[in-house]
Amino acid sequence: MNILVAGGAGYIGSHTIVELLNSGHNVICVDNLSNSSKVAIDRVEEITNKKVLFYKTDLSDKNSLNDIFENNRIDACIMFAGLKAVGESTKKPLLYYMNNLTSFMNLVEVMISHNCYNIIFSSSATVYGLLAKSPISEDSYVGDLGKITNPYGKTKLIIEQMLFDIAKVNDKLKIVILRYFNPVGAHKSGLLGEDPRGIPNNLMPYIAKVAVGKMEKLHIYGNDYNTKDGTGVRDYIHVVDLAMGHVAALKIFETNKKSEDSGNGNVFVYNLGTGVGYSVLDVVNTYEKVNNIKINYVIDGRRDGDVDTLYCNPKKAREELNFKPQLGLDDMCRDSYNFQKNNPNGYN
Ligand code: NAD
Ligand code: UFG
Repeated sequence: MNILVAGGAGYIGSHTIVELLNSGHNVICVDNLSNSSKVAIDRVEEITNKKVLFYKTDLSDKNSLNDIFENNRIDACIMFAGLKAVGESTKKPLLYYMNNLTSFMNLVEVMISHNCYNIIFSSSATVYGLLAKSPISEDSYVGDLGKITNPYGKTKLIIEQMLFDIAKVNDKLKIVILRYFNPVGAHKSGLLGEDPRGIPNNLMPYIAKVAVGKMEKLHIYGNDYNTKDGTGVRDYIHVVDLAMGHVAALKIFETNKKSEDSGNGNVFVYNLGTGVGYSVLDVVNTYEKVNNIKINYVIDGRRDGDVDTLYCNPKKAREELNFKPQLGLDDMCRDSYNFQKNNPNGYN
């Protein structure tokens, strides 16, 4: 297939492009590089020995997007583009609504006007809200914007709901919504990985910075949760497994299968996680063990908006997409450190 990957220079997008190319697909990448570097795409080409057609374009620019569709035959789109920092989104809500919603609406409108009807959307476990009980299945209650504490998460739920509405009135559309749990790790080559700007918000990239001495110590947000060691439990999935989940999801576009999720049978929703929860201390201890290093940490107070435990029921993706993650926590920690060590300043 010819696949347009929006936001493909980013962390998950770049890993996904590698697996798409390795599976024989052609890739057209559109990214404004607001949170990424073109170097990631050069490295994708180095790893795969294949070419990516790259457009440095902002998805707010509908004319340029139209030109890309005029000049290329596109069978499906994968929509990764968006801003994703939870904390920043509470400080700059308008920026998040504007960027994430406009990008999505422009892409879908231009797609449909060029008779391209297949789209995969990057959603998040955040749509389940704070009260969902783990293991979380796809039909756990979603739909209450008030249960989502930040504008970033709200953009995910709003876009999901838009997709259901659009699907109701367009029978040709096929939509796959993938709800990621906690993507971590890096490509085993050490060439691709997560390169957050400034101070990392998320656990694994923060540990990686401590590991190479760029940060003094990890702050663990609370050890009084109702979990086995008191620290928060999450469902970490290796980014290469997550990338493979997208390749698996493309099969939906080649079948006549109807979904049991709503939207006239043409919206398919899947959790992408392992179904296994690890605590913050599990991650720290594993990072130390597999990389033979010491991670300094202190226990701080809880972070606003965190829950004690969050992991998925991965059964639906397993049964319907034949998707089963292959890599474990050891691989996630080893590959994260390998990338950070080889690229202490990220892609710069
Ligand atoms: P990322 O920031 O590394 O990648 C997003 C890419 O989109 C970046 O390359 C950025 O430059 C690009 N982009 C942003 N706005 C754009 C615009 N207007 N026009 C063109 N390009 C634009 O993030 P990621 O971790 O790779 O996440 C990819 C997607 O998955 C995001 O939508 C994110 O919300 C979602 N997601 C990520 C996580 C996670 O923990 N990483 C979890 C759940 C969901
Ligand atoms: N944590 C720390 N110290 C840190 C960072 C995180 O102790 O410096 C802890 C958190 O308290 C939590 C765990 O590590 O218990 C994981 O935190 P992350 O920030 O790595 O991930 P979250 O589960 O909070 O967030 C992720 C994605 C969001 C998404 C959310 C919804 O990053 O995009 O899942 O499930 F919205």
